[in-house]
Amino acid sequence: MLPTSQDTPTTSMEHLRPPEPIDGRALRTACGYFATGVTVITSGDGVEDAGTTVNSFTSVSLDPPLVLVCLHEKSRLLPVVRDARGFVVNFLTKRQESVAWAFSGRQTARLDEIPHHRSVQGLPVLSEALAHLECRLSAEYDGGDHSILIGEVVGLGTPTAEENPLIFFQGAMRELDESPAGRRG
Ligand SMILES: Cc1cc2nc3c(=O)[nH]c(=O)nc-3n(C[C@H](O)[C@H](O)[C@H](O)COP(=O)(O)O)c2cc1C
Repeated sequence: MLPTSQDTPTTSMEHLRPPEPIDGRALRTACGYFATGVTVITSGDGVEDAGTTVNSFTSVSLDPPLVLVCLHEKSRLLPVVRDARGFVVNFLTKRQESVAWAFSGRQTARLDEIPHHRSVQGLPVLSEALAHLECRLSAEYDGGDHSILIGEVVGLGTPTAEENPLIFFQGAMRELDESPAGRRG
């Protein structure tokens, strides 16, 4: 039976204890139980290009077409995105684990080591990605030690052949090994 409003206990501020500070490592471990895809965010004008591995990608709105990614305040990619006023979200395939790790280190890979081409706006697109979204930087919000970047999608590419995504779960890169869990209805 579903609870009714009468079942809901009334709460007052007296009953609320201030929360204990959350340890960053514990938070990271807990969030690791949320399986995500893996993206490399790329940006730059051809002179100063950069890429960073990111799993904070979320689609936000269909009309207007908006997505978001979160970048650490010290990210070397952040000033490049601000200068270019745009970025590309490259969804990685299961064959691109080495690319994911290469763009997640202190010394991240250089884009000229990875096959890529230019979008219509002139932004770098990873040529072997599963799919990509080309975004105009539409807004930037404070998100604690990260910046929340809202991108308006102005171009996209989807795969021509069937290809599986790269998955990140509990700190490890994985691949899909199951058929679809079931269909609704
Ligand atoms: C699977 C995975 C997901 C990540 N997601 C993010 C993210 O959403 N935002 C972020 O700022 N860093 C993320 N990182 C960490 C960056 O990839 C890493 O700190 C990188 O060195 C930053 O490089 P940069 O300074 O060139 O931006 C992630 C790393 C991994 C392995």
